[in-house]
Amino acid sequence: MASYAPIRPGGSLILAWQTKNRKVLIVGGGQVAAGRIVSVKEADAQVTLICPEDGLCDEVKHRIHVDKVVDWVDRCFQDSDLDENYDMVLTAIDDHEESLRIGQLCRARRIPVNVADVPSMCDFYFMSQHRDGPLQIAVSTNGQGPKLANMIRQKIAASLPPGIGETVRRMGILRGKVRQWDPEISNSGPRMRWVTKLCEDWGWSATLVQTIAMTTNAKTTGTIYLVGGGPGDPELITVKAQRLLQTADLVVSDRLIPQQVLDLVNRKSDSAQDELLEWCLEGLKKGQQVVRLKIGDPLLFGRGGEEVLWFRDHGYEPVLVPGISSAFSAPMVANIPVTHRGTADQVIITTGRGTKGSMPDLPEYHPMRTLVVLMAVGRATDLQQILLSNKGYPANTPISWIENANCPEERTIFSTVEQMANVVDEQNIVAPAVLVVGQSINVLNTL
Ligand SMILES: C[S@@+](CC[C@H](N)C(=O)[O-])C[C@H]1O[C@@H](n2cnc3c(N)ncnc32)[C@H](O)[C@@H]1O
Repeated sequence: MASYAPIRPGGSLILAWQTKNRKVLIVGGGQVAAGRIVSVKEADAQVTLICPEDGLCDEVKHRIHVDKVVDWVDRCFQDSDLDENYDMVLTAIDDHEESLRIGQLCRARRIPVNVADVPSMCDFYFMSQHRDGPLQIAVSTNGQGPKLANMIRQKIAASLPPGIGETVRRMGILRGKVRQWDPEISNSGPRMRWVTKLCEDWGWSATLVQTIAMTTNAKTTGTIYLVGGGPGDPELITVKAQRLLQTADLVVSDRLIPQQVLDLVNRKSDSAQDELLEWCLEGLKKGQQVVRLKIGDPLLFGRGGEEVLWFRDHGYEPVLVPGISSAFSAPMVANIPVTHRGTADQVIITTGRGTKGSMPDLPEYHPMRTLVVLMAVGRATDLQQILLSNKGYPANTPISWIENANCPEERTIFSTVEQMANVVDEQNIVAPAVLVVGQSINVLNTL
């Protein structure tokens, strides 16, 4: 048999009563009435206050004459006042008998009433309340300990992080935006689950930062930039990438990024590959501008797409900044126009190492094609064999290895498909290097 929460009688039904534009009558003009005015006006009610002028305290006078938030009737209560269809009546007068009488009149007319200091004549109580923007926290001890209720309320309020009211306000804006993005009524469940999941995934402090991030363009917004660092020469970084590198709070780079590029950065992380994305996330949660620096172009054999998806899963949309790819800069270093009228009208860029170390599906030989292979050094023998045996490449097709292109240790070696693995051993070619295959190699080089 299923077990359910036990019923614990003796409490109050705690609700948030929407009193916007509801008609509220306050009888009395002393300090208690002044407090009631604040409570109901903060809930946007229309307030009528009945009290002769000599019964008004200074604060009530201020609300009447300065704030002008109360319609004041300058006399004592009359029974016919209740003909005005009030939604709520609050009495705050010293005359106990009259208070009870008004209370009973209200009950007879089924108007919810609160008679100050007469709990048995109260249909509802005012609670000890903490207010911060749209956030309201109310504490009730059901009349057992009003002072204690105040202390409990203060303790709860003190435990809240600063800015929580603003966060709640922005969460409201975010919910509105989500509704705009997907207004289908039938999707309200998934919509709300999405917002709930964001809060859960972000946790307490990130929710503060992220609701602000998603509803403003303020500097507090953590932003992730996926930036192409180019092939290695600091002068081959884009102006935009350089600006971001110099202004970022945190730069998280790949191990492949050459030192001379990293020297452009002020604050950077180490490069333990597996923790890189988590570090970015930590920075983002603190509202930082984070640059994820990738070698070459981030979306060309750089797992940039995977990282975009990862950040999306964590609630961030990376800003993509392209970089000069070694696929183009390395051939240029070797004076190879990857396309050239009459010689090469197509270029294929591929990898020497497929997913999980598999061999790539190399293209067939075509005399007008330039083949550019990244991550090929460790695979030179296998690649050579496939090109010669399976893909129809003539043995004398020109090739070039370009090692550390655009870096101080740059080296360029020319050969033929027949010799392409041998030269790796003979010349001790190491990664990073780009392999170029095709007739375009001979256009500007006299070999
Ligand atoms: C993981 S891929 C990254 C490619 C990068 N996203 C790009 O667009 O250049 C790494 C490979 O890029 C090539 N590479 C990167 N920088 C290079 C450089 N400076 N010189 C030669 N090859 C380079 C090498 O083939 C290396 O094995």
